[in-house]
Amino acid sequence: MDIVLTFFGRFHPLLVHLPIGFILMGLLFECYKKKIQPAATVLKFIFFWASVSSLLSIVSGIFQFLQEGYIWGNIQGHFIAGVATFVLTLGFYLFLKGNVFALRIPRLFYTLGLFISLMITGHLGGNITHGDNHLTEPLEALVGINNKSEVRFLNVDDYSRQKVYSGLIEPILSKKCVRCHNPKKAKGQLQMHTYAALQKGGKNGIILDFNSPESSEILNRIHLPEFEKKHMPPRAQKQLTQAEKDIINYWVLKGAPEFKTLGELGFNEIQLNSFMVQENEEVYPSIELDLPDKKTIDSLQSMGILITPVKQNSNLLFLSTINYKAFSDNDLGLLASLNKHIVSIDLSDSNVTDAVFTSLSKFSNLVSIKLNRTAISGQGIDQLSKLDNLKKIHLINTNLKSEAIHIISGFKPLIKAFVFQFNRDLRSEISLSPEILVRFDFGNYLLEDLPSDTVVY
Ligand code: HEC
Repeated sequence: MDIVLTFFGRFHPLLVHLPIGFILMGLLFECYKKKIQPAATVLKFIFFWASVSSLLSIVSGIFQFLQEGYIWGNIQGHFIAGVATFVLTLGFYLFLKGNVFALRIPRLFYTLGLFISLMITGHLGGNITHGDNHLTEPLEALVGINNKSEVRFLNVDDYSRQKVYSGLIEPILSKKCVRCHNPKKAKGQLQMHTYAALQKGGKNGIILDFNSPESSEILNRIHLPEFEKKHMPPRAQKQLTQAEKDIINYWVLKGAPEFKTLGELGFNEIQLNSFMVQENEEVYPSIELDLPDKKTIDSLQSMGILITPVKQNSNLLFLSTINYKAFSDNDLGLLASLNKHIVSIDLSDSNVTDAVFTSLSKFSNLVSIKLNRTAISGQGIDQLSKLDNLKKIHLINTNLKSEAIHIISGFKPLIKAFVFQFNRDLRSEISLSPEILVRFDFGNYLLEDLPSDTVVY
């Protein structure tokens, strides 16, 4: 019986075209009813079959919903609009037959209503099969906004503490894969709704290969060209964006762990840019710069310092010493030729001291500075007041003195300073007016430092 229902359900995509044809034909006829004779008989005939085929569409649709693991929330609108179309079709048929109840409603109500409900039903149905933006997608591609991930759920300030699977991978898979790979509908006998299910694999075995990650089936599938039959998600489905593919790729190559944090796996802000909840303002200054010096970049990279453009085709740079913790005040000299290009710098966990402020004040385009878990006390931090673009500064778990807070509060462009100290309540040591206070994050809600925060990658 199940098989019969599933089979009938599968006819839904075919059946729905019948009422669409009948109804549009009928409506066209209605427009020309004065010219084409005998209109009444033909109209009755058409709307009889339109009613029958609408009903069949609804019933097959219900079976498809029940058998194939669709989520009610996603199909609700389509269903209601479909039922409305059926009711109007039947109503109009009865109207044409001279039914007294149906005659109480004006003819235009049926025809106009039918046209509208048919369009809505069709459009919502299309969204279910091809994704929410299947109409606007070609336009989006045209203006180049297609490469953003639609799912923005990471917070710039605490993303590194998020668990990689629950915080990043799962939301992507839920949106793009789980629809066809779940307990109700496990295409290729593969379920992807939990980590355990991913580990289990599908009908051809494992999809995550922990021994040689690069040959994992999941990577093969997403990297195949879209026209290949085995490409995932299948063609005409909502595709993974480039950023999403890159993230899955990186995660699998790192051994596809479940519980490691984004920080532990070495994810950086740039990679995750398209998943970050965006702030409204344009973050980086709009300035034209020459290409940064390649030799300097190469030598920094060879030391293990991460240095990348802040976005594609930009000469503005992000620098992080997360993989080179021996970085010290003297090493800042190495960056001198990039002092216009670097707009975001992360020296957390390095060996820098208060001497760093003199050097940093020469990086005139800096927007963001991170000095978390360094030995700085804030001596000389006033020199940063020269930085006209400085919007964020992170000074978590340092030796920051409360006087520094007053100095920082005088930085005009600053939007937020993160000054949470694990062992001290800095906030109680100073008094600040409410409008200044909002620019500081004393972060008492933060978790204490995890041992893993200081792991070297
Ligand atoms: C519209 C439905 C649909 C969506 C969405 C979808 N898949 Fe599939 N998937 C299938 C079908 C059908 C098969 C079985 C046919 C085949 O092997 O190509 C399959 C098979 C697979 C297999 C092979 C399983 C095995 O052991 O043979 C993998 C791996 C896979 N999908 C990964 C993904 C990933 C990753 C995503 C999301 C990025 C995804 N799929 C999204 C329909 C879908």
